[in-house]
Amino acid sequence: MTYSKITGLGFYVPENVVTNQDLTQFMDTSDEWIRERTGIRERRYFTYGKDTNAGMAAAASRMALERAGLQARDVELIVYATITPDYFFPGSGFLMQRELGLEGIGVIDIRDQCSGFVYALSIADQFIKTGMYKTILVVGSEIQSSWINKSNEGRGVAVIFGDGAGAAVLQATEDPEHRILSTHLHADGRYAEDLYVRDPGSSRPGRSATKEMVDEGGFDVIMNGNAVFKHAVVRFSEVIGEALEANGLRPEDIALLVPHQANIRISEYVRQQLNLPEDRVANNIQKYGNTTAASIPIALTEAWEQGRVKPGDLVCMAAFGSGFTWASALIRW
Ligand code: COA
Repeated sequence: MTYSKITGLGFYVPENVVTNQDLTQFMDTSDEWIRERTGIRERRYFTYGKDTNAGMAAAASRMALERAGLQARDVELIVYATITPDYFFPGSGFLMQRELGLEGIGVIDIRDQCSGFVYALSIADQFIKTGMYKTILVVGSEIQSSWINKSNEGRGVAVIFGDGAGAAVLQATEDPEHRILSTHLHADGRYAEDLYVRDPGSSRPGRSATKEMVDEGGFDVIMNGNAVFKHAVVRFSEVIGEALEANGLRPEDIALLVPHQANIRISEYVRQQLNLPEDRVANNIQKYGNTTAASIPIALTEAWEQGRVKPGDLVCMAAFGSGFTWASALIRW
């Protein structure tokens, strides 16, 4: 039986650090408000002319490949998650493929928002288990800062998000002990408009982007923060429980939980539900904010670099986001 396992991890964040205090230049907010409600102290914003969505992803991927002891040419497929691509289309996965010199291999471009990385990992896992590919690059990359509305109207959303990229190399293994145990994907489109960007959409007649759309705020992220919060705490716990149950495991077996970095209060609530000690949950939202599809691979890579992920450890990734989507992955490292 063929399984898949993560053999290399990498991440990239832009150099430009933007503190909560820095945000007060653009909007009526405060360090205290942001820290108390979200846990965030600072985030990274890309530098125009230096960082791109695909470029950041390529940097993260190179690091992951080097740590896996592989060359870029060993990669057979790219699964790339982002909701902030360089172009409206084609997706940034193609631009990263070009940058890595991998012309010819397949690229699967997905969105799936804050659950994007876990969805991407699940897709890659299936391709490896069927025997179609042996080495797949799984990527999450976002540039939120060029998109979000940094004025007073957008402050409820703007303070949360940041930029960055993370990547994992997934390889085939016959070892039943050290591998991805299972992945679990869910969505509920009834809540699509509780966290969304309407434009440039194809649902209305005329050109897909007009000045009116900008003036109406169609390009802004609209978020019902309360609804997101309430659903997130339930779904996180549910989907982690589902993964444990599928494998006959219990919460106390988790060596490291890597939740999507949405809000420190959400992660803290989930940690308490599972009765896990603080050191078994990866949290870096304080430094990077919510980097959407990039948040889990960045947090996992940092935890791995800190020696918090060791062979034999049970690692659980869990995500919740726009869609609504939620997902989990359980790995025996
Ligand atoms: N700075 C200062 N004040 C702000 C602010 C900001 N950045 N954003 C909003 N406010 C104000 C509001 O205008 C409101 O003022 P009012 O009481 O005078 O009307 C007040 O703060 C409370 O706003 P509210 O939206 O009710 O705050 P909240 O306690 O619900 O926290 C979130 C807002 C966004 C932090 C919270 O809802 C949340 O974390 N939701 C989950 C979001 C999330 O995780 N999204 C990513 C999903 S993957």
